Amino acid sequence: MEPQMNDRSPVVRALGVVKWRLGKLVRLLSGGPLARERRTVQKGIREYRSAAGQDSDLYLLRRNVHMIEKGLTMRPRRPSFALEYIGVTVAAFGRVAPSDGDAPSSEFAWMQSVLADYFEATSEATSPVIQAARGQFASIESLVGERRDDGPKPVSVLSPNIEISALRQLAERRRSVRWFEDRQVLRQRVDDAIAVAMESPTACNRQPYRFEVFDDPDSVRRVAAVPGGTRGFGEQIPGLIVVIGDMSAFFDARDRHLIYIDGSLASMGVVYGLEVQGIASCCINWPDVPERDAQMRELLGLADYERVVMLIAYGYADPEGLAPTSTKREIDAVRTYRVLG
Ligand SMILES: Cc1cc2nc3c(=O)[nH]c(=O)nc-3n(C[C@H](O)[C@H](O)[C@H](O)COP(=O)(O)O)c2cc1C
Repeated sequence: MEPQMNDRSPVVRALGVVKWRLGKLVRLLSGGPLARERRTVQKGIREYRSAAGQDSDLYLLRRNVHMIEKGLTMRPRRPSFALEYIGVTVAAFGRVAPSDGDAPSSEFAWMQSVLADYFEATSEATSPVIQAARGQFASIESLVGERRDDGPKPVSVLSPNIEISALRQLAERRRSVRWFEDRQVLRQRVDDAIAVAMESPTACNRQPYRFEVFDDPDSVRRVAAVPGGTRGFGEQIPGLIVVIGDMSAFFDARDRHLIYIDGSLASMGVVYGLEVQGIASCCINWPDVPERDAQMRELLGLADYERVVMLIAYGYADPEGLAPTSTKREIDAVRTYRVLG
């Protein structure tokens, strides 16, 4: 449908039509949004494959260690498991081992601990695959520091100091805020919110997202000008986070939605993490518009297997600014308890 432009001058109207037709042409030449999405997915898979066997195959390692850790928690636990991938996992683990004297990252320490638990749990296994991997693991371990006890453990009961009423109050009070004070938010506060986000669940613990944070007026203005959803309030946003999904986390197109799922779950952590510190926010939509996508890719220098998931504007709410109430539905309209007949 052509854009509605009844109350504009003929020149503006003509320019609007030209822009709309050019956009249509670009869409046509690029094969449409689904073709572009397919290309991004394919580029991600290609990148995943080219990382295999390199010290950049962290996604493979994260997923495999996760699967092993899950295997360790199974009831009953099998005396041997992960035969198909323990070899590549230990090899990949060896490639990310810290070099002499460097302190291991907490992620490496977790992997080391899980693998150590695995080889203990499979000590009776006679499979040559496990034996070979065990030997390789032992030689890697001899080069790195002390092993920590980071493997699976019983869950501690959730902190009772966060009452459901307090959580509900936080959820009910949060509203999307679009008008902000001209005041910087300390980066430490943003980092604290991101730390909350980073604890979000992700499929196979891959964590296929990252956040690019802009908090200087010029950068915020330029980034905020790209998505359409900031129209009318983009000029006074103090901080802006671009949530970026990484399609190279996946070896198969079946997982193509996970950057949106994982990225969004993490984004909600950011929003609540900001909110409890008195910092308001507004999610900004990232519809699949080729021209805007190209513009953002160039502005941020995104890899061709990366995709913007959404943006989050944040800052201290202007006490004079209005926010829509955005009343939610009744619970009965959202939730059904069912028993299948
Ligand atoms: C994925 C997503 C995209 C959104 N995009 C925009 C946007 O582009 N511009 C905007 O002003 N608000 C945007 N919002 C905010 C919604 O309008 C808002 O969440 C909704 O109206 C409900 O209001 P509430 O957040 O105050 O509960 C977006 C929210 C989400 C979750």
